[in-house]
Amino acid sequence: MLLSLQKGRPFDLAVDVGCGSGQGTLLLAPHFTQVIGTDISPAQLEVALANSSCPAEELPFADGGADLVTSMTTAHWFDRPRFLQEADRLLKPRGCLALISYTLDMDVEYGQHSHSLTDICHQVR
Ligand SMILES: C[S@@+](CC[C@H](N)C(=O)[O-])C[C@H]1O[C@@H](n2cnc3c(N)ncnc32)[C@H](O)[C@@H]1O
Repeated sequence: MLLSLQKGRPFDLAVDVGCGSGQGTLLLAPHFTQVIGTDISPAQLEVALANSSCPAEELPFADGGADLVTSMTTAHWFDRPRFLQEADRLLKPRGCLALISYTLDMDVEYGQHSHSLTDICHQVR
């Protein structure tokens, strides 16, 4: 796992943004002390038995508390500049943002890093 190489243990908090029913969130559970799934849809969260509904662009977590932020087949729906700003705020130094998708054929806008991030997406699509 990239996070092992980049940051090392302990893996405290993972935040799965746009978790839907929670099917991907559950896969993270064995590897972290705490895993929280968030989604904008109360109906999806009912399925996930989660207790918080929030947009990806306003995540209710403290600065610098998360080792990992994931978004599985979801980031194409987000206001990506605002979501990336939130992910950056949440993550610990050397924490990891994982965007998992069927396709990463999208532009990623984040200040001076927009060009490099979009290049990475296009390389792995
Ligand atoms: C294709 S589903 C993916 C669900 C889950 N990540 C998975 O892989 O099974 C996309 C999810 O994104 C959520 N979503 C869309 N826009 C959102 C936003 N701005 N903030 C939070 N969640 C959002 C939807 O409610 C939906 O549950």
